[in-house]
Amino acid sequence: MRNIYPNIFKVNNKNLSKAVDYLKKKQLIGVPTETVYGLAGNAYSTKAVKKIYLLKNRPLKNPLIIHYFNLDQLRKDVELNADFYKLYKKFCPGPITFVLKKKKNSLLAAVATANLKTVAVRLPENKTIRRILRVLNFPLAIPSANKSTQISPVSAKDVASEFGNSLTFILNGGNCKIGLESTVVDLTSKAKILRPGLINPFDVSKVLNKKTKVHTGSKTIKAPGMLKRHYSPGIPIKLNQKKVKNNEAFIVFGKKYKKAKNIFNLSYNSDLNEAARNLYKILRLIKNKNYKLICVSSIPRRGIGLAINDRLSRAAK
Ligand code: TXA
Ligand code: MG
Repeated sequence: MRNIYPNIFKVNNKNLSKAVDYLKKKQLIGVPTETVYGLAGNAYSTKAVKKIYLLKNRPLKNPLIIHYFNLDQLRKDVELNADFYKLYKKFCPGPITFVLKKKKNSLLAAVATANLKTVAVRLPENKTIRRILRVLNFPLAIPSANKSTQISPVSAKDVASEFGNSLTFILNGGNCKIGLESTVVDLTSKAKILRPGLINPFDVSKVLNKKTKVHTGSKTIKAPGMLKRHYSPGIPIKLNQKKVKNNEAFIVFGKKYKKAKNIFNLSYNSDLNEAARNLYKILRLIKNKNYKLICVSSIPRRGIGLAINDRLSRAAK
């Protein structure tokens, strides 16, 4: 049988060293992380980083998250502060991104940070990406591996379907453990959540021992691109719906919904972590089925539910 995904490679020593070679040559590869799949390139190389923006069709004013193996690597590029160390101790490596001040002598390509004086940095937990970061002498710029404004990928196949032949190498790390992007917390002044994730504002407040503000997506635009439509299947979405017509897709949560062709249950057992893992998978599935409208039932706002609601309301814009 013909391999229909010639650009997907399993994780083994040979393919890991291939991945490293691509990155050293300033080429891009698709990589798994615990949150979503990413499109990785050398963050110290203007050439590599420009390729990321081009392939994703991403506006140059929307900065990337830079991924590091450890504190020694990280210290070279950003100013670490007390709040950072507290959160680092509790959550790293893991699904949290910190916005910090960039050091003057940092080697980061200016285009990676959209010429800002701040940088978003993350130390991912996924074993595969860590095995790669460990042997490189540069950090990786890794946005989610989707075309700008589209649904983030949670499997290697999703990445292949986003980029087709224009991405030649994707490492297959299986389905993402979390399925939603990392929590972004701005630590350049008073701590503030710019994007909720598995780690929610209450978790952050508890560790910092102070109330943490949440960016509501209104006037104070901290991150370019944070207001715009995002995570979108390209079909209108209506939130907090109770019922739908047969020709509309209905995304629901919990046992009380009947089974039907147009009903997509995020978690029959009302497990929000399972719902998070299923969200982008289901949006992608619905997108490929030609529905004209997606309705969504109400989804609890506790735990990762806050992040699920955040992504759905941005997808609905
Ligand atoms: O889970 C994740 O974070 C995934 C995986 C691949 O690591 N990456 C990811 O990257 O979601 P991306 O590029 O899709 O989202 C980056 C977010 C954007 O909302 C961007 O505006 C924000 O981080 N960001 C980047 N640099 C920033 C900065 N200096 N200040 C504020 N926000 C920033
Ligand atoms: Mg993204």
